[in-house]
Amino acid sequence: MAITKQPERNNKVVKSSDAFVAPDINAFGQSFRDYNAESERQKGVEEFYRLNHINQTYDFVEKTREEYKKLDRVQMSIWECCELLNEVVDESDPDLDEPQIQHLLQTAEAIRKDYPNEDWLHLTALIHDLGKVLLLPKFGGLPQWAVVGDTHPLGCAFDESIVHHKYFKDNPDSKNPAYNNKNGIYKEGCGLENVMISWGHDDYMYMVAKENGTTLPEAGLFVIRYHSFYPLHKAGAYTHLMNEEDRKNMKWLHIFNKYDLYSKSKVQVDIDKVKPYYLSLINKYFPAKLKW
Ligand SMILES: [Fe+2]
Ligand SMILES: [Fe+2]
Repeated sequence: MAITKQPERNNKVVKSSDAFVAPDINAFGQSFRDYNAESERQKGVEEFYRLNHINQTYDFVEKTREEYKKLDRVQMSIWECCELLNEVVDESDPDLDEPQIQHLLQTAEAIRKDYPNEDWLHLTALIHDLGKVLLLPKFGGLPQWAVVGDTHPLGCAFDESIVHHKYFKDNPDSKNPAYNNKNGIYKEGCGLENVMISWGHDDYMYMVAKENGTTLPEAGLFVIRYHSFYPLHKAGAYTHLMNEEDRKNMKWLHIFNKYDLYSKSKVQVDIDKVKPYYLSLINKYFPAKLKW
């Protein structure tokens, strides 16, 4: 998820050598993620975040992580999952009308064009949203608020930059004094891997990749795990919790993110044409069948 123009997010831009200026429209004249636009979806998106902010508590995330770490639901390959993802609708996204496999391939192909030698990043792009299968009944059929949308830390104060921040007042964690300050239960510089992040497709796919023994580099796993953590990579919040390793990986997250957002287009990727290339990457970095 991401947002280009919305009032509740502060507009502080993360400075990096890969600074990217967000265009208002894509090459096809379609606008991106304008949460203020008069759109039918806008109210739905706000309601989505209301439910997300009320229900994602520290305890909920801890229990859900524990449950999904078992990976005892499905066995399938990465490519099978790419195809399965077409059955999924992400209600939190105001500008994604194309089939999900097209979003995966458009993102991957756009990165491949600009970074031809980083094959791990092409594959990272292909698989970054596969965790959305959590919405399907055989993966537990989780509600939208537990699968998609921006993510944020639990166990410390909810930063003002989090979209539709006002709804946190009804989250039980807001009343927990241990969580209600900048560091909360964490130590400054503890590293993001030690921070509980709201549950969704990012953390699930990270878990699936890691537990199935992927050989993707750490930067790829970092991109998968934090690509929806907009308060961090867009607003620059929570950087005090990062460690040296996180700071190195942020470079790739910033690069990835602009493709995740701005490669969406009506021009479809020819799946049959690119499939052999992606199958070869899957074969290089993953076992043939994975536990989900
Ligand atoms: Fe995503
Ligand atoms: Fe995505």
